Amino acid sequence: MVQATLFLLVLSLALGAHGLAVRKCDLVGTWVNDLGSNMTIAGMNSKGDFSGSYHTAVTSTMNEIKVSPLKGSLQRTNQKAEPTFGFTVNWSFSDSITVFTGQCFVDEHGKEVLKTMWLLRSHVENIKNDWKATMVGTNVFTRLYSQ
Ligand code: BTN
Repeated sequence: MVQATLFLLVLSLALGAHGLAVRKCDLVGTWVNDLGSNMTIAGMNSKGDFSGSYHTAVTSTMNEIKVSPLKGSLQRTNQKAEPTFGFTVNWSFSDSITVFTGQCFVDEHGKEVLKTMWLLRSHVENIKNDWKATMVGTNVFTRLYSQ
């Protein structure tokens, strides 16, 4: 009886500890967003600077889409399990540029998700057209290859 109680106590403590364990959200890897765009964050240094590539599924131009480079920064102050980040995509097939900012979350199933907002700045011919040069939106990214 005592042994059984002890066993149940240890089991519940173990399960409880597992449920509380916070999985750290890691930006490195390949992601797909709600538009079907793919991005790969290749590497990150000790300061949180990272680089990678972005393959957008859509474009506001008539140009042929090409894989474009991205550069970003992960916020490392206080080393949060669900960190904030920002990155810039310098489109190689258009004269526009996009900045993304977001946070890496781990959902209730332990799945990582990047919630982002972006600003897409298009080139305009003159200052009179500046008012229509910036688009804003959101994207949600999940891992392309999740285990
Ligand atoms: C352009 O059209 O000038 C370049 C491509 C822009 C693609 C945008 S960036 C924000 C949104 N999220 C994506 O994955 N693609 C679009």
